Amino acid sequence: MLLEGKKGLVLNVLNKNSIAWAIADAANLQGATVGMGVQNERLLDGALKLIEGRERFDPFLIDFSDQTQFDSLAEQVAEKYGKIDFLVHSVGFAPKEAMTGRFIDTTLEDYQTAMAISAFSLGRLCQVMEPLLNEDASVITLSYLGSTRALRNYNVMGVCKAALESTVRYLAVELGDRGIRVNTLSPGPVNTVAGRGVSGLTDMIKIVHDRAPLKRPYGKEEVATSAVYLLSDLSKGVTGQIIFIDSGYTVVGM
Ligand SMILES: NC(=O)c1ccc[n+]([C@@H]2O[C@H](COP(=O)([O-])OP(=O)(O)OC[C@H]3O[C@@H](n4cnc5c(N)ncnc54)[C@H](O)[C@@H]3O)[C@@H](O)[C@H]2O)c1
Repeated sequence: MLLEGKKGLVLNVLNKNSIAWAIADAANLQGATVGMGVQNERLLDGALKLIEGRERFDPFLIDFSDQTQFDSLAEQVAEKYGKIDFLVHSVGFAPKEAMTGRFIDTTLEDYQTAMAISAFSLGRLCQVMEPLLNEDASVITLSYLGSTRALRNYNVMGVCKAALESTVRYLAVELGDRGIRVNTLSPGPVNTVAGRGVSGLTDMIKIVHDRAPLKRPYGKEEVATSAVYLLSDLSKGVTGQIIFIDSGYTVVGM
């Protein structure tokens, strides 16, 4: 059991296809107690069904568009767990209009919304959780190749992911004194609700699977096992890094 005795948060689970759910499930099966984040009350019932009959799972509500909820989350976590050993940030959002057409037409309002929820939230989360993080804790977030390559329809989300990856490096430096590691997992396209927000997702998945060096397909389970590695002491020398889980697609030239 790689995470025996560890406690942490995995934010946010929408349904059984969420990458966050695959990570929460894998971490729990490796012995961790998991605080499972859900965006709002409306989504709570579905998320509770996933953990029905399971031990060492607790739900927490958190909407990143409301800054006061970060503080109340920290209060609830302090009360329930005291200190924690890991924090998983698996949230991305951009208004629909900003994910179609031309990036050049992104409005300031949509840009700010996407950036606040998808990138700023990681720093904000670490700010409120810093006093609760144990020495040698592990923080991970989820990014995508659109941070460094321009992909049709990914648009403002690519800019958010670039900011998110940079945020990871600053946090890695600032929290490193206490042995706290901060890393990024960058999966190839996966069929989830957020994934389907990018039009052409099915074609993207096919292209990646056709061209990637590994002919074995990757999916959220492979993301989850890499997450377990980063959350565990096996990765104690690794911080500020981006790990791609895309069957190697990123290294192929043509
Ligand atoms: N699916 C992919 O192809 C893919 C690829 C690379 C990276 N990612 C990233 O993985 C992460 C998880 O996405 P997913 O694919 O599992 O999809 P998902 O739709 O299952 O998860 C997205 C989560 O974000 C939450 N969310 C949205 N707005 C929020 C807000 N205002 N406050 C709090 N939570 C909010 C949703 O409730 C949901 O739980 C995202 O950061 C996404 O960008 C996804």
